Amino acid sequence: MNAKTDKLENKIFRITGLQESKPGGLSRGPKVRLTLQNKAYAGLAAISWNELSGFAIGQVVRVSGDLGKYQEKPQLQIKSIVQADSYDATDLVPTYSGDLKALEARLQACIALIKHEKLRRIVTTLLDKGTELGKKFRLAPASPADISHEPYLHGLWQHTLEVTEFAHGMALQAMRMRPEEYASINICHLVFAGLLHDIGKTTSYEYGNDGIKFALAGRLNGHLIEGYAIMRDALLKEGGFTATEIDRLLHIVASHHGAESDNPPRTIEAMLVHKADSIASQLGSTYGKPHESSF
Ligand SMILES: [Fe+2]
Ligand SMILES: [Fe+2]
Repeated sequence: MNAKTDKLENKIFRITGLQESKPGGLSRGPKVRLTLQNKAYAGLAAISWNELSGFAIGQVVRVSGDLGKYQEKPQLQIKSIVQADSYDATDLVPTYSGDLKALEARLQACIALIKHEKLRRIVTTLLDKGTELGKKFRLAPASPADISHEPYLHGLWQHTLEVTEFAHGMALQAMRMRPEEYASINICHLVFAGLLHDIGKTTSYEYGNDGIKFALAGRLNGHLIEGYAIMRDALLKEGGFTATEIDRLLHIVASHHGAESDNPPRTIEAMLVHKADSIASQLGSTYGKPHESSF
């Protein structure tokens, strides 16, 4: 355990993982390992050197202990743990701790980069904060598991902006470095698809007071197909696009997982969105919360 520790006093958590050492075993490790979840932590590793009885996955508890680091990850050494009799359920759902107004301002700035009127109208309509989809886009997590990136409410919004801004920044830099070769990058396509590349996550996950998990659509279809369908419907509803334009835009969504997609990126805009998605999600799942300690 790292020397630097913080005290957690009487904090509310839901138990999402529980592993007990075998009774009578020779192991000199902790007697119990727990994974705990609340508003601030999607999955906090916790250990008890004493045996605990009467606890189970799903139970809501109040915990006190010393929060430090073990192997560069936050770890809580439990000093006391009791069943919680009363609590606010919203305190148990991992939630983005940043400024939502700043996310909204960045979203509007990204939308303003789309000079193509029809594309800008589609994004503005789809992501309007008054619509069901716009609300889900702002509330959904970027992933349901604490092993991946931004697994907390508003995480999709944060991740989408990071991908769009990374992709846009790389496109501008590429055009500056080799203007004759890269001048044809279609910024409207890039930003439009960047903003919608993970829109399928709005239907792929369920999130609420019970926590964050896969929805049936996410388990059966996955967010690439869900997002492809949302974008295709919106393009066809708006109308006035050529088949080539529609295919090139859908390709950015369909290929954004690179080699893990059915088809790898085959246009410069798709390549940039894929690379932006890759760096944003890898940074988030390695150094962002909950992977990096909050102190
Ligand atoms: Fe994705
Ligand atoms: Fe993504």
